[in-house]
Amino acid sequence: MDNLLLINASMRGSASIGLRLASEMVDCIRQRHAQLKVTLRDLAAAPLAPLSAGYATALTRLTPAHDPVFTHSEVLVSELERCEVLLIATPMHNFSVPAALKLWIDHVLRIHRTFIAGPDGKVGLLGDRPVYVIVSSGGFHRGARARQPDFLSPYLRHVLGTLGLQDVHFVYLEGLAINEQAVLAATTQARLVLAGHPLFAELAAPA
Ligand SMILES: Cc1cc2nc3c(=O)[nH]c(=O)nc-3n(C[C@H](O)[C@H](O)[C@H](O)COP(=O)(O)O)c2cc1C
Repeated sequence: MDNLLLINASMRGSASIGLRLASEMVDCIRQRHAQLKVTLRDLAAAPLAPLSAGYATALTRLTPAHDPVFTHSEVLVSELERCEVLLIATPMHNFSVPAALKLWIDHVLRIHRTFIAGPDGKVGLLGDRPVYVIVSSGGFHRGARARQPDFLSPYLRHVLGTLGLQDVHFVYLEGLAINEQAVLAATTQARLVLAGHPLFAELAAPA
């Protein structure tokens, strides 16, 4: 394995619990693949340009991919195409993806480039590869303690599927706003879940 893309959507930098777990996952892969190159696309530290009127118009026409209007989108799509594993670390913001991640989606999920629309619906053009999505939330959205819906997971799964990415694994860090004990419990549980995947077996050992 040579290339990994890490998308971060938390604006909390090194304080982000999700980004910290993602870094542990990267270290884990590096133990077996020392040559691993990691591209960090930090959507909070380096915000993407907003979508332009030209981009919106170009999407409704058969605009060639090399048109300057797609320059920024092409950079992001190339990062996706190049990676063999995709990690996405994202908080839940108001039951769904943060605006920064939604903007990334609008730059990469592009008709005639990363998907086509056929008679039976939209079909992804990217080759499949493993995707791990770390979702951090202040409260709970699963199980008996759930007090809110989760629109993030089904939405992001659908988006990734429309790109052609079906091998998607969600890992949840819930209840992070409660206290330090809850953070520890959530990260320990997430490490255990991840350790069930061969790439992250080493995460079973306490950090
Ligand atoms: C604008 C905003 C909206 C949020 N919405 C939710 C929410 O709907 N549900 C929830 O459980 N937590 C919500 N949170 C809390 C974050 O998901 C939580 O702080 C998360 O742990 C941050 O992840 P990080 O430590 O990886 O940065 C929200 C936080 C912000 C800033």
